[in-house]
Amino acid sequence: MNTETAVHERYSAASQAAEAALCCPVSYDPKYLKAIPAEVIEKDYGCGDPSRYVRSGETVLDLGSGTGKICFIAAQVVGPNGRVIGVDMTDAMLEVARRNAPLVAANIGYANVEFRKGRIQDLALDLELLDRELRAKPIASLDAFLGAERLADELRQRTPLVASDLVDVVVSNCVLNLVAPAAKRQLFAEIFRVLKPGGRAVISDIVSDVDVPAEMQTNADLWSGCLSGAFREDKFPLAFAEAGFPVVRILKREEQPWRVIEGIEFRSVTIEAIKNGAGTSSLRTKSAAALFTSPSRTDGLSFNATRGVSNDCGPRCC
Ligand SMILES: C[S@@+](CC[C@H](N)C(=O)[O-])C[C@H]1O[C@@H](n2cnc3c(N)ncnc32)[C@H](O)[C@@H]1O
Repeated sequence: MNTETAVHERYSAASQAAEAALCCPVSYDPKYLKAIPAEVIEKDYGCGDPSRYVRSGETVLDLGSGTGKICFIAAQVVGPNGRVIGVDMTDAMLEVARRNAPLVAANIGYANVEFRKGRIQDLALDLELLDRELRAKPIASLDAFLGAERLADELRQRTPLVASDLVDVVVSNCVLNLVAPAAKRQLFAEIFRVLKPGGRAVISDIVSDVDVPAEMQTNADLWSGCLSGAFREDKFPLAFAEAGFPVVRILKREEQPWRVIEGIEFRSVTIEAIKNGAGTSSLRTKSAAALFTSPSRTDGLSFNATRGVSNDCGPRCC
């Protein structure tokens, strides 16, 4: 199974006809939904609400923006002085989001959202730009293939899809799990790269209480359904710490699993990771314990990013 193909096919279809079983039901602030067309809201494939943690005036990047719901909510929270960029790799999703953007702009009175085509684990590469260049020079030989790789590298340097140190807050709703295992480390490095010093990532995603077995990871339906690629709960914060985020905390954890498959619990969490900035180191020194642990012990997860080890995980892990 190629995970990217499975994800692309599933979400191309889900952009056309709403699929109720994809991801968990979430309640968004109704005051922000009024300005958003029904077509966008119906195709909600999220598992949390990272837009609740966005602030006025910020530059927001939404990874795997789908039909645009989180971007359109964030657009209202950041206001006319902020901006929102959604990135998705699926043309059919981008088409719905881009078609609805002017309608939302008319409803809220300003246009501050744009949608770009890219892979979230390779946020420097503008896939539409690369496509245009390659149409002029089709690949029909090994030399052309190697030339295309060099071209992609040049585009990453010259005209990055998302520049380094650009963003105040990276949000994502139920997408990181969909990225292929071999690309996950690069994904966290990319999130780190695009954030300004002191910027933060607020990510809602699906986690599992134990490792997902190999046979489930090769099931296209379970993978694209946001299950098989889930992070093991205790390893999710560590992935941010390993990418260089000094401060990581769990903002929300659903006690009730979303699904239980073969005894494995899959649930939604929302996590925040802060990139080092002027204020971060003093914050970290003064109250490291509070920053490295979840807000309440009932969250069941705490960890020490400095040591890079899990202190306390569920009864079925470690
Ligand atoms: C589960 S849906 C979530 C959509 C949206 N965040 C929401 O809350 O409704 C996953 C979305 O991420 C996109 N996606 C999955 N993997 C991606 C990747 N590696 N790069 C870019 N987009 C990706 C899919 O095309 C799809 O639109």
